[in-house]
Amino acid sequence: MKKLIVLISGSGSNLEAISKACSEGIINGVIASVISNNPNAYGLERAKKNNLSYKVINHKKFENREKFDEELSNYISSIEPDLIILAGFMRILGKKLSDKYFGKIINIHPSLLPKYPGLDTHERVLKNNDSFHGISIHYVSSELDAGPLIAQGKFQIKNNLSEEELKEKIHKIEHILYPKIIKEICDDRIHLEGNKVIFKNLKSSNNIIYENYDL
Ligand code: GAR
Repeated sequence: MKKLIVLISGSGSNLEAISKACSEGIINGVIASVISNNPNAYGLERAKKNNLSYKVINHKKFENREKFDEELSNYISSIEPDLIILAGFMRILGKKLSDKYFGKIINIHPSLLPKYPGLDTHERVLKNNDSFHGISIHYVSSELDAGPLIAQGKFQIKNNLSEEELKEKIHKIEHILYPKIIKEICDDRIHLEGNKVIFKNLKSSNNIIYENYDL
């Protein structure tokens, strides 16, 4: 069974979906620890409810990013995880840390990367009158929201949707696709070689798993 660490900053709905897939045996893995940089993250309540061990590493208590990253890195090393999962973790990881764990950290981002890295993705999609929106799952590199892509889930924006409605649809896709991809990684059907994502017996096009959702 693979040892997982999940990093959160907020609501933790993705953490909940991943935890459910682990306890149902869909993911061949166990969440060894949940880490939050935010002591008030609602995701910590979800961790408690699901009997997951958790740790708060509050970035505000550190002089600078390097010191925060160092503490995070030491804690992660002490657990020796197989996979580090960023699930709404809103801190940028420094180069040293992301290089150290390259190939072992994945992130979920609420846009069809390379479109809209960073914040306020739903707002930007609406502002640009985009016809499609979606989510990306990728290996984390030292560049923000730019590591090798693993999967994307896409939907068509049919009506005049509000930002809140878009966010809801994005979450629906995330809660399906993130556990699915984590399962494949834990079953050794996805891994990284250099900068290339390798899929074993999985349907991918242009080296990414694409899923269309009718929401
Ligand atoms: C998710 O939509 C995730 O894609 C996004 O934060 C949300 C967290 O929700 N992540 C980012 O924006 C990272 N750049 P959750 O706390 O309910 O899982």
